[in-house]
Amino acid sequence: MKPEDIPEIVDRTAKEEVSDRLLYIDPTTGEKIVYKHEIPFYKYQTQIIFANNSKLNPKSIEDYIALGGYRALTKALFEMTPEEVLAEVDRADLRGRGGGGFPAGRKWKTCRKAPGEPKYVIVNCDEGDPGAYMDRGLMEENPHSVLEGLIIGAYAIGSHQGFVYVRQEYPLAVENLEIALKQAEEYGFLGEDILGSGFNFKVTIHRGAGAFVSGESSALMTAIEGKVGEPRPKYIRTASQGNLGKAFQPQ
Ligand SMILES: Cc1cc2nc3c(=O)[nH]c(=O)nc-3n(C[C@H](O)[C@H](O)[C@H](O)COP(=O)(O)O)c2cc1C
Repeated sequence: MKPEDIPEIVDRTAKEEVSDRLLYIDPTTGEKIVYKHEIPFYKYQTQIIFANNSKLNPKSIEDYIALGGYRALTKALFEMTPEEVLAEVDRADLRGRGGGGFPAGRKWKTCRKAPGEPKYVIVNCDEGDPGAYMDRGLMEENPHSVLEGLIIGAYAIGSHQGFVYVRQEYPLAVENLEIALKQAEEYGFLGEDILGSGFNFKVTIHRGAGAFVSGESSALMTAIEGKVGEPRPKYIRTASQGNLGKAFQPQ
């Protein structure tokens, strides 16, 4: 579709008609398909993380809130202890999106228990893999969902400082995330005494400089520290010894 097609689409849709010439054509059967859920690629998918992408304006926190956004944060802060949040994430079997599918609950628990303060939470949105759009799709189209998850994670772990490491080559992701961050601060979802709960948490955006290897968790942390983004041996996992060498005190 091109921008010039929009008036026709709006016009036809208002009349409950379909723009036949603009329909998707199945490349194998040559048939025209009317609904997205009938397209073979989408047919067998149940979209959970991306489910709200098409329902909101990513630059509007009000849209996100109208769809139930930040309710999970409110519930976590006022109805649950950090340990209960960790148990819930464990029970849900939430998995990391970094490729390995590591259980998030186990990683978060390790970090909470790691000796030493302060603790940091980092969102890895480097997405250096060519042709991968799972992080980009979320950052560009539903950035508040990322922030809400980050704040809940911070509460569960006991962290007061978070970073979002975002790929510089995704300018719209950077832009929408920056807007979302500002809005979340204005609404009291970030900063000091979040929603009057006594919990403090701030977030900094760090733009990646384009190296694939910097998406590896330990390299990503050295990049955030302002050094060359190179990995270190991981005999100590990043959940135990993290950013700026903190959250771990050798015995
Ligand atoms: C060379 C290399 C590059 C990586 N690049 C990325 C990346 O771009 N994005 C990502 O999320 N994880 C990447 N990873 C995986 C991270 O090390 C780590 O497992 C991931 O951030 C964990 O995310 P999770 O907490 O969602 O499981 C990379 C790993 C390696 C070895």
